[in-house]
Amino acid sequence: MTGSKLRVPCTYQGGKQRLAGAIVDVFFAENKIGADTRFYDLCCGSGAISIELVNRGISPQNISMLDISSWGAFWAAVGHGTFDMEFFDSILSGLPDDKREYKKHLEGLVSSSSLVHEAELYPILQANSFGGKQITTKNGEWDNACFRDYWEPTANSVRRSPANPMQPSPTELKRRVTAIVRDMVGANGIRGDIMSFFSFNVAPDSIVYVDPPYMNTTGYSYMFNIKDFIQEYKAAFQAPLYISENVALGHNATKLQLHGANGGITGSRKSKHEEWLSRF
Ligand SMILES: C[S@@+](CC[C@H](N)C(=O)[O-])C[C@H]1O[C@@H](n2cnc3c(N)ncnc32)[C@H](O)[C@@H]1O
Repeated sequence: MTGSKLRVPCTYQGGKQRLAGAIVDVFFAENKIGADTRFYDLCCGSGAISIELVNRGISPQNISMLDISSWGAFWAAVGHGTFDMEFFDSILSGLPDDKREYKKHLEGLVSSSSLVHEAELYPILQANSFGGKQITTKNGEWDNACFRDYWEPTANSVRRSPANPMQPSPTELKRRVTAIVRDMVGANGIRGDIMSFFSFNVAPDSIVYVDPPYMNTTGYSYMFNIKDFIQEYKAAFQAPLYISENVALGHNATKLQLHGANGGITGSRKSKHEEWLSRF
């Protein structure tokens, strides 16, 4: 790895960028990590956990990343070295000069684009997604794509600065994706259903991490039953299994502290939301 630390392309519903440090700390504290240790990041989404591993010096060749959504297509292209940077650049440079025009421009893009360039288009669309909601695909087309508007304060607004439709900005997204494409080639990126994991050959000294959609939430387009997964996993593999949830799933669970953008623990904002890492 070269240069500064990698960052997730964009924020994402349920993304673990603020918890990745604490989660990887647990992997390192509870296991003997060697040059051959394999990591499985299942339901990897924006890749916060794998990115944290690479930032700590783990070789991407030792990491498998799986997700059923377009993130799976993105990570497969990154890992196989087939991400088309020229196409990605052409979409970014084709964005209108006026941010007020982004929404209309992107709506036109999704209705006219096939999924041939899914891996390259997806991070751009997701960075513009309203509320960070997951943009999906259905029957070979983009689905659930709802974009942010440029927002300017009025005389009565509490917020005094305009809100950008794209977060991060096109320049910052380009910087992040360029670094990811350079430093994460060789990762085993897979677009697939988590149940296909049972056909994998998982060595007992591997670390398996699953970040499923929160139980009892309705916000995701893709779901599965985590309890069934745990049961089947116990019968199939010996490697430690770690699961993120907003509750402890068993007796062996760690309550995680949320880290702010600067890496410090956020103590000022009181939140009822809890994050747990359970081990099986
Ligand atoms: C909480 S998010 C993961 C966030 C991720 N750890 C990150 O840091 O961005 C849950 C993910 O599970 C994926 N997912 C849901 N059902 C799945 C399934 N049956 N197989 C594989 N992935 C699935 C979703 O696409 C979504 O990206």
